[in-house]
Amino acid sequence: MTSSKVFVHTIGCQMNVYDSERMLQQMYVLSVFATDVMDDADVIIINTCAIREKAVQKVYSFLGRLTAIKRKRPEVRVIVAGCVAQQMGSHLIQRFPFIDIVLGTHAVHRLPEYLKRLDRDGGPVIDTEMTADIPEFPADMPVLPQNTVSRHVTIMRGCDNFCTYCVVPYVRGREVSRRPEDIICEIKMLVGSGVKEVTLLGQNVNSYGIKEGLVSFPRLLRQVNDLIGLERIRFVTSHPKDLSEDLMNSFARLDKLCNHIHLPVQSGSNRILAKMNRKYNREIYMDKVEKLRAISPGIAVTTDIIAGFPGETDDDFEQTIDLMTTVGFDHIFAFAYSDRPETPASRFPEKVPDPVKGERLRRALETQEGITRQAYDRLIGQVFPVMVEGYSKNQIKSGGVKQLHYIELSGRTPENRIVNFHALAQGPVTDIDFSSGRIQNVKIERACENSLWGTAVDPGDLIIAPKGGEAYVA
Ligand code: 5AD
Ligand code: SF4
Repeated sequence: MTSSKVFVHTIGCQMNVYDSERMLQQMYVLSVFATDVMDDADVIIINTCAIREKAVQKVYSFLGRLTAIKRKRPEVRVIVAGCVAQQMGSHLIQRFPFIDIVLGTHAVHRLPEYLKRLDRDGGPVIDTEMTADIPEFPADMPVLPQNTVSRHVTIMRGCDNFCTYCVVPYVRGREVSRRPEDIICEIKMLVGSGVKEVTLLGQNVNSYGIKEGLVSFPRLLRQVNDLIGLERIRFVTSHPKDLSEDLMNSFARLDKLCNHIHLPVQSGSNRILAKMNRKYNREIYMDKVEKLRAISPGIAVTTDIIAGFPGETDDDFEQTIDLMTTVGFDHIFAFAYSDRPETPASRFPEKVPDPVKGERLRRALETQEGITRQAYDRLIGQVFPVMVEGYSKNQIKSGGVKQLHYIELSGRTPENRIVNFHALAQGPVTDIDFSSGRIQNVKIERACENSLWGTAVDPGDLIIAPKGGEAYVA
């Protein structure tokens, strides 16, 4: 293969972000390097998401754009990966005949082999087979250079829960956990290359290792916590039904585990939760949140909400709003229910009309806005350790840093709240290297809608100065 540049467009969840990185790593080994400019690319990969109809529409419109590119430059390789690739398989080729490779969710590691096959035998190549185990990538895969101190690491894939609305079990297959030694090895490689924070990924990390008889998730967390050089650990996603006391206690026991949990509740109505096959009720959910808060005071709890599940009445939805205000989430991700092929809920009668779903979604978001504002106001005056990750959004909007002496930095607290603060740059700064993962105490002064503003406390050695032609955060 003679190509030299690859462009990856990723839609969807962090699992896809991770898989995209895996694909880039494999291309890197073949001396095919990433580019941000699609027109420069010899290989274009679109990593797709099928969780809601809107995500699938995004895939189709991107592929529509590719039609023109492929007409102009037929030699460009087009690869469709991820959940839509898995679900649609050869149907995708019928609709978009220019696609060269359809790479299902279990075939990510076979990308180099398929590119070779394409050169040798022509295409298209389609692999939507679901394999029973997780293929391990070689341990010596290069860590891709990225100006970021935070990375994701998949610890398991698939899902066995079959929530009635969800397509994940069909497109990602059954739950399989990676071996702890492989996970630890990967994190060590990342830490060795300067990574300071890892987020462990799985559809339901609470059931990590159970099926295979591996170490439990709390034990795995302990092993990760012991790694020298790593500063912060996060994980997503937890299923409330499997959130054990042992895991809750980890928040108190492990110094690197961040004080935040994403615990999707989906609905506040017991009737709807049963129809969703969630296997808990609102009382159990709220009880678990209360326990978590007793174990780890100040823990930030975030959640997912679905508005307009089939059969959801106004009263059911009011119970969701009531649960939201009672729990007081830090942040929510809310979605209008979307029918997914194959799922039981897509066959449920009593579909909620689109305008009603839209209205409920709007109310959920508006309610949360008020809750977040109140919660953020209570943080004013408090000091939080912020891991500096980059420029603030304002700074980026104004074109990054050129000759400024007064710059705006941004990072996150352990609770995953974004905090912006000012720093003084010594001398002209052209580009800042944020790879030190500096943790700076910041006193909160102001709350915005989705972020906080503050002042660095004892900035002391917070130096932002040119160093060998580059600037760095010391
Ligand atoms: N419609 C709307 N939202 C959905 N989610 C999953 N499936 C659907 C669907 N069919 C949401 C859930 C899940 C999040 C990742 O996406 O809230 O937690
Ligand atoms: Fe989907 Fe439920 Fe599995 Fe989450 S736990 S991925 S919502 S089936």
